Amino acid sequence: MMDFFPHLGSNGIEVDAEPGSSSDHDSIRSDLTSLSESVYANVYENGRTYHGYRPWSYVLPNDQREQDRLQVMHHIFRLFFDGEICATRLENPQMILDIGTGTGIWAMESANLFCYVGMFTDKAVVADQIPAAEVVGVDLSPIQPIWVPPNLRFIIDDVNQEMRFPSNSVDFIHVRGLAGSIENWSSFLQQCYKYGRLTIPLGHVLCFQERPGGRLEISECRPQVHCDDGTYPDDCYLRTWVDEFNRITKIQGRTWDIMPEIQGLLEDSSFQDIHLSDNKIPIGPWAKDRKLEEIGRCFQAQMAEDAIESYSLALFTRFGEWKLAEVQVLLAHLRSELKSNKMHIYSYLYVPTSRQLSNANYSQQHICHGEKAGDITFIILLV
Ligand SMILES: C[S@@+](CC[C@H](N)C(=O)[O-])C[C@H]1O[C@@H](n2cnc3c(N)ncnc32)[C@H](O)[C@@H]1O
Repeated sequence: MMDFFPHLGSNGIEVDAEPGSSSDHDSIRSDLTSLSESVYANVYENGRTYHGYRPWSYVLPNDQREQDRLQVMHHIFRLFFDGEICATRLENPQMILDIGTGTGIWAMESANLFCYVGMFTDKAVVADQIPAAEVVGVDLSPIQPIWVPPNLRFIIDDVNQEMRFPSNSVDFIHVRGLAGSIENWSSFLQQCYKYGRLTIPLGHVLCFQERPGGRLEISECRPQVHCDDGTYPDDCYLRTWVDEFNRITKIQGRTWDIMPEIQGLLEDSSFQDIHLSDNKIPIGPWAKDRKLEEIGRCFQAQMAEDAIESYSLALFTRFGEWKLAEVQVLLAHLRSELKSNKMHIYSYLYVPTSRQLSNANYSQQHICHGEKAGDITFIILLV
């Protein structure tokens, strides 16, 4: 046999006399056992499972069907962003936070994007100088995979409570699909602002490069359906479902349509450089444009097969006094109506982006602190 790897010798892989001594084996094991068992205890209701940590606070399921739907939604977002993972162009981020990470697919892809490109030799891991970011995904449900890129970790936490995250530490906060999850958007955005890094302009610090301020991106579809050509009749099942959804979410008391208020909320939380983008997302493959046709096909599939059930089972039965059988009948009609492809309907996807800039208080709050950022220690001076 040809010897492709001469350094291994003719016996193949050499056995380490102290296995695991150079690895993270112990820390991995302790990470896995640090979660209390109760976090894994799902709530079972109407044939679906829901998160067991702080139960009842989030009304969508967390089972495999829902996880598959979230993967389809992630594919739709990547189609929408022309293959990118988000709208924000990131400049050498060092810390990324994905709030409400779900299956963790977005966090994993961003961790891979900003991972050291390294290679193993028999002596050490050699990484080149490509900057790497640490990525943290936070969620109520422990549904993320265990084997993930080395620069990614998941935390089970409730973002409606004060998270124990260091302030002024995050370069990019990604929030996707959290409509109906956040109790108070104003305090949530203030928390985000606190975690994000403030801009450090060159003149204020003894360092070699300007550090851009933390960025925040929020992606949400509005819970409304529109049509421009009269193919969305007044008496269809979809209208009944949308009206009922909006009625019941008012009873529930959570905001599911935050986008009309988002600019004011971001400004009130001190975010600047705010860009709002509202985009029509077809539901069904009726658009002539090829990209929108594909987005519409996927969006309709996830909606008919799963989203309408995920978004209504708990809401309608817990808050709207619907019986399970009544919900199922409505959903069955709605499924065939959506799949008939007779309606040229669309919803809106909003992707507001914003950033934190330096403010007058910055130098006073951070007088002469040494801050570690990657390999450069910034010394912040009074100005
Ligand atoms: C619609 S999913 C979106 C998941 C992910 N962002 C994505 O786009 O694939 C919403 C996620 O937010 C999580 N979530 C809801 N309320 C939360 C809370 N209070 N704290 C942490 N995570 C929460 C849910 O468990 C769920 O995984």
